[in-house]
Amino acid sequence: MAKVAIMGYGTVGSGVYDIIKMNSAKLAKSADEEIEVKYILDIRDFPDHPEKHLFTKDVNDIINDSEISVVSEVMGGLHPAYEFTKQLLESGKSVVTSNKELVATYGSDLLAIAKEKNVNYMFEASVGGGIPVIRPLSRCLCANNIIKIAGILNGTTNYILYQMITNNKSFDTALKDAQANGYAERNPAADIEGHDACRKIAILASLASGTEVDYSKISTEGITAITLDDVKCAGASDYVIKLIGYAEFLKNGKVYAHVAPMLIDKKNMLSGIDDVMNGVLVTGDAVGEVMFYGPGAGKLPTASAVVADIVDSVIHRTARKGMAWIKADEDNTAPADEMKFRYFIRADKSTGDAAAVFGNVTELCGISETETAFITSPLTYAEAETLTAQLGGVKTAIRVLD
Ligand code: HSE
Repeated sequence: MAKVAIMGYGTVGSGVYDIIKMNSAKLAKSADEEIEVKYILDIRDFPDHPEKHLFTKDVNDIINDSEISVVSEVMGGLHPAYEFTKQLLESGKSVVTSNKELVATYGSDLLAIAKEKNVNYMFEASVGGGIPVIRPLSRCLCANNIIKIAGILNGTTNYILYQMITNNKSFDTALKDAQANGYAERNPAADIEGHDACRKIAILASLASGTEVDYSKISTEGITAITLDDVKCAGASDYVIKLIGYAEFLKNGKVYAHVAPMLIDKKNMLSGIDDVMNGVLVTGDAVGEVMFYGPGAGKLPTASAVVADIVDSVIHRTARKGMAWIKADEDNTAPADEMKFRYFIRADKSTGDAAAVFGNVTELCGISETETAFITSPLTYAEAETLTAQLGGVKTAIRVLD
């Protein structure tokens, strides 16, 4: 019998408890032993819970209990999640988590402690909710040099964009629905301003390169500047706009990454990822393109990935899984101006001639007589800034995902 603890009884933590109860026979088969929850740590009281005796407010109950071998940290935030995780790993317990903020910020330190103590720190649920992507990227694609990762990594923003376009909901109503469904972060600014997706692309890029990619160096824009007119204009020319976490692994060993709304051709597999779904398109030098798709947020999908890590940690109590990276010795991120992207531009027709300013452009359908919409040739960020200023009257300028 493996005894485990759950730290945090919010949306994901209660989902972890529910799955362990609901699928106990299946989990016992997968782990080759029964899995039982011995503690649930939360600062709140749950007097009506059927197993209210499991609750504790003192993490030392878990740290000092030698029967506990695996702990799921699903409390979110950096502190005290970092201190608790560190203490647990140091005391020889494996920790599994959905906490992308913690993994992106302190992953290198925590993975190093796990290695030293010969235990596991697993984080399948930290990216893509219920989608298996951490393990496949790290293990199943390990024969490849990863060339590029482009992902729809935030369920809340994808849900909001989809509900606005398809069901004509306002931004605020769609956001409230995302919160009610348990998709959004406690502070939804982390979703809509792109910070959640930034942490997730940093985790994927760190895993793919084997060296930490510092999320604070990743240029991050959210969806707040995207209008329905942008989306309609894109749609009229067979494109969609999605919030994309993007990473490219350059031959000089540097990683270029950004989070931004991007224009996507409807022929691209990522264009069909709707509602709360996430999709991650990985390009490897041997395998080519591989797509991971599924529910990116929500109670049971996210808990499904956490519980899988619990089972894996129970099976590998005395063997480490190699899903890890090391700290970078120096800045390993490539500056924006080393990269070129095509740009999707909407501007007032009256202000200037697009072709005269940008040279070769592909015209798209504008949404009115008075506007021009087009795609430029590949440009650096600085070139795009200069030329859009030169054209004048630019309402929207976003990169194209090629
Ligand atoms: N707020 C996150 C999202 C939850 O919407 O994707 C899953 O990480």
